[in-house]
Amino acid sequence: MGQFVIFQTFEFVLFHNFPLSPVSIHLNCNQAMQTDIDACRAAVAAAKQVAVITGAGVSKESGIPTFRGKEGYWKENRPEDLATPAAFAANPKLVHEWYSHRRTVCHQAEPNAAHRAIAALEKQKAQFLLITQNVDGLHKRAGSRRLVEVHGNIFRGRCTACSYTVDVNLEPEPAIALQCPACAANVRPDIVWFGESYHPADLQTCYQFLHHTDLVIVSGTSGVVQIPLHLTQVARERGARVIDVNPDNTAVSELADWHLAGPAGEILPQLV
Ligand code: OAD
Repeated sequence: MGQFVIFQTFEFVLFHNFPLSPVSIHLNCNQAMQTDIDACRAAVAAAKQVAVITGAGVSKESGIPTFRGKEGYWKENRPEDLATPAAFAANPKLVHEWYSHRRTVCHQAEPNAAHRAIAALEKQKAQFLLITQNVDGLHKRAGSRRLVEVHGNIFRGRCTACSYTVDVNLEPEPAIALQCPACAANVRPDIVWFGESYHPADLQTCYQFLHHTDLVIVSGTSGVVQIPLHLTQVARERGARVIDVNPDNTAVSELADWHLAGPAGEILPQLV
């Protein structure tokens, strides 16, 4: 397997404009929506091996901003300044301040109905994997155990020079040690940044599972960062059916058998 590098063309954010899918369903089409929810619930019940892929939208109802969109983090900030190794090398203090702020937001947030529905689904299925881009830890706090956090976790730090890793102190408030106690190099957030490779073992786990998955539920991702779309494509090529839960139409919706156009916290509990 080749390396898979987290990459986004920043221009793509400006220009992406997906056409409406013919299977898009809007909340005001109550009857059609209900028919699709019923069909999806039946597909979930029948599936033997289920993967769930989540992005920032799943935590929005917990009060954590997404990255794109009008109130997203990338509206006010540039990823190049805050979420790349070069940004950290140039200004570690700025990057730490930004992650510190986000860590406090995550610490104060509570899992919502979408996180709880995904954790409940895990209990129903012998073959289950949650793949999340979210670094906020809310899936684990809701009870998810069989999960891969492909972008890392905001409550962990790691040394830029040696193998030292550290969990962030949560009391009295979330804080990260800035210097490695083993080698004195800078400690950074344990996040996979733009321009960096995903952890091969994480990808291996995802691919192995998706090769035998009969249903993939994707929720809360714009698909602008490649990995959710790519993993969904892999499963689809192996015959998996795909449900996308997202108020907006995205590249993932285009691939999906069903696009349930609504918030994850309202829709996902109805599928489980
Ligand atoms: P984005 O911010 O790109 O997209 C969030 C998606 O969630 C959008 O498609 C919204 O329509 C959708 N959404 C909003 N509210 C929702 C709700 N209540 N229920 C369901 N969906 C909702 O987030 P991601 O696709 O997760 O990386 O972005 C992935 C990565 O891009 C992040 O991990 C981060 C970012 O740049 C790094 O920082 C390295």
